[in-house]
Amino acid sequence: MAEPRYLLRTFGCQMNEHDSERIAGLLTADGYVATEEAADANVVVFNTCAIRENADNRLYGNLGHLRPLKQANPRMRIVVAGCLAQKDGGTIRERAPWVDVVVGTHALPGLIELLHRAETEGPQLDVREQTEIFPSALPALREVAHHAWVSIAVGCDNACTFCIVPLVRGPQLSRPIGDVLAEVQGLARRGVVEITLLGQNVNTYGRDLTVPRSAQRPLFADLLRAVNRVEGLRRIRFTSPHPHDFTPDVIDAMAESDKVCEHIHFPLQSGSDRVLRAMHRSYRRERYLGWLERIRAAIPGIAVSTDIIVGFPGESEEDFEDTLDVVRRARFDQAYTFQYSPRPGTRAAEMEGQLDKPEVQERFDRLVALQEAIALERMREQVGSSAEVLIEGLGRKGGAQGRTRGNRVVHVGGEHAPGTFLDVRIVGAHPHHLEGELAERREHAAVG
Ligand code: 5AD
Ligand code: SF4
Repeated sequence: MAEPRYLLRTFGCQMNEHDSERIAGLLTADGYVATEEAADANVVVFNTCAIRENADNRLYGNLGHLRPLKQANPRMRIVVAGCLAQKDGGTIRERAPWVDVVVGTHALPGLIELLHRAETEGPQLDVREQTEIFPSALPALREVAHHAWVSIAVGCDNACTFCIVPLVRGPQLSRPIGDVLAEVQGLARRGVVEITLLGQNVNTYGRDLTVPRSAQRPLFADLLRAVNRVEGLRRIRFTSPHPHDFTPDVIDAMAESDKVCEHIHFPLQSGSDRVLRAMHRSYRRERYLGWLERIRAAIPGIAVSTDIIVGFPGESEEDFEDTLDVVRRARFDQAYTFQYSPRPGTRAAEMEGQLDKPEVQERFDRLVALQEAIALERMREQVGSSAEVLIEGLGRKGGAQGRTRGNRVVHVGGEHAPGTFLDVRIVGAHPHHLEGELAERREHAAVG
């Protein structure tokens, strides 16, 4: 008999990518193989995101498409996992009763058992409130062999007023440093050369592992240094630090650790102090810019990316100008820009001064135009330089595509397998990618 097949679709952030590797790992360990065709699948899993609006509409759209397939093949099992499952579990069952399993963010380890139970007992729902087993402890099946997401903490103790994450992922729970190291060592032994350490707020990593006010150790910096010593690993990335909890020892650890890449994702959210206050983000614009200055001074050439929200409730034209001003001064290499989206259950959703869509769109377009121009300038500064590129896959227009240590996407001609390191010379620049040519090998043969 042919093996049962699963189709897995992932939405949202890197934490979901990480969890999806575990979903794939659990299903593989249970004898399933992957498919891209819903009609062939015995199990279809949607790993969902709740951070912005429309995620639910998209989910119900996708579930609606599956309904006739499920009617034709009643043995097909449909699973909804991730943040929307955690947030809307009961509603999903009501609106799409043909869903077999709703599994929240804390309940992932029980996925296979839930699937088995669904066979005999009918639809299952597990949206428990606490993580008992770290998803990292589960078997993983990775999309690429050379890179791995490594979770160092789940959940978040902050309460940014726009953000749904603390509601769906719960309070911060850090993994013991030894567990993280053991995982990274195992990955490196199996040929992983690049890892991305994941946490909602990596700077507070370990805060929940120490006794309050006793061991005030800067644990994230320790972790970076320890991971840097793992043999075989070549690149370490992490996401995301929070400007509020950022500390100089992290800059020192980054500068001293040769494997830690010259890139930082440093979420600004807004350049207006008034809006930052309303967002419950406790740093201010000058402090943010001050951190950037220190980071750039300690790590020359470091690339900086950020997240910015436009149209937070009560944002005035003046507030928005403040954001544009910080964007001009910060000169980000890349910015992920979002239109504010009220998330039910968050404080900002209840605030007065919700803006109209056309106003937000108009500001958003201005911000994107400014940032695109800056991104292109930053990319042009790279032309003529040499870079080490780690190939990730095929380029869009033929050739291969990879990233520099600064996280810049580079297209290179020719066939190169994922996981290959190339030395390239940067010959062209676009706002979101560079063009590279293979650097000529240095001939050491004696001349003359
Ligand atoms: N509306 C718009 N953007 C949001 N983000 C988080 N919540 C919202 C929201 N309600 C953005 C933030 C965050 C990124 C992952 O998503 O910029 O850093
Ligand atoms: Fe959300 Fe703020 Fe926590 Fe980030 S730090 S996950 S934006 S609450």
